[in-house]
Amino acid sequence: MKKEIKKIAINTGGGDAPGLNAVIRATVLAALHRGWECYGIRDSYNGLLVPEEYPEGGVIKLTRKSVRGITHLGGTILGTTNKGNPLKFPMQGEDGQFDEKDRSDEVVETFHKHNLDALVAIGGDGSLGIANVLFQKGLPVVGVPKTIDNDLDQTVVTFGFDTAVSFATECIDRLHSTAEAHHRVMVVEVMGRYAGWIALNTGVSGTDDAILIPEIPYDINKVAAKIEERDRRGQLFSIIVVAEGAKPKDGALSVVEKEVGKEQRLGGAGEKVAAALHQLTGKDTRSIVLGHLLRGGTPTTFDRLISLRFGAAAIRALEEGQFGKMVALDPPTVRYVPLEQATRRMKSVPPDCDTILTARDLDICFGD
Ligand code: F6P
Repeated sequence: MKKEIKKIAINTGGGDAPGLNAVIRATVLAALHRGWECYGIRDSYNGLLVPEEYPEGGVIKLTRKSVRGITHLGGTILGTTNKGNPLKFPMQGEDGQFDEKDRSDEVVETFHKHNLDALVAIGGDGSLGIANVLFQKGLPVVGVPKTIDNDLDQTVVTFGFDTAVSFATECIDRLHSTAEAHHRVMVVEVMGRYAGWIALNTGVSGTDDAILIPEIPYDINKVAAKIEERDRRGQLFSIIVVAEGAKPKDGALSVVEKEVGKEQRLGGAGEKVAAALHQLTGKDTRSIVLGHLLRGGTPTTFDRLISLRFGAAAIRALEEGQFGKMVALDPPTVRYVPLEQATRRMKSVPPDCDTILTARDLDICFGD
């Protein structure tokens, strides 16, 4: 339902991704075009919930000047956090222990106190799930799909993913030299949380020898056999890309920690694979974790363009009264899908998708 809009807010939630600033720029300029005022909430919802932490204000005015020259910059000028989930906000009790508290009603109340009419929430599945709850509580909101993991449903791709894959592929190209010169096995762990999109696309583009992803639990003996087969053919090096969420058949995820109010942190999957492969093959093996390097830097042209398109489309959605929706890429256009649908399930790699079939035809091993 349409609503008169004069003043909107934008926030960026969860892990940063290349393209956030481009979305902010397009959103602000498209809003200003319509004569609307535009504000940015600092660090996801923290600017509303803990304003005392922001001497310059938890909600800041965004002008043409604020968004000048930021399209190509990584990070987010608004700041972000993955510890500020208002549905599970970490609060310290008198005993010093942290507990999770639902502060979503307070977000809605404070939003209205600032006389804000609508929100553009830029985030991944977690942040857009929060946006959907706020929408159900009466907040007019439109979401923009961000994440290097590409695990959001209902959009062909999220912004940030292309940059992450491009950089990871460049790293693998570089690792080929050492792998080949030293006859080594190089194991490269990439982010992606519980989905294998980054590992899969990087592994195929980088012509790796094995790709281990959460969607296909692996048997390490099969990966070792692949390395040995290469050795027999005189190809004395191998490159294995491992998604941080990859796990062995009948094995567990590699988890670093779980803090109150925060998603569990994954890590160590690559190191485990490297150690096992060294033991099984006896070959010189190294493991490299690309980690947060995949989230930084300049967005690729593809990511810049979809980010700018998503930002402008979010404003058109608000203008049309398409609240509770997420902007989704559906080439050659964008469409609006209910946040509810977009956040209902994670978009995993279908084990029979054409990229996997292509990889198998290229003789890439999945450890299955
Ligand atoms: O969701 C983006 C992401 O980079 C994941 O790929 C990764 O598991 C997680 O965030 C890392 O989070 P943090 O920045 O808290 O280490």
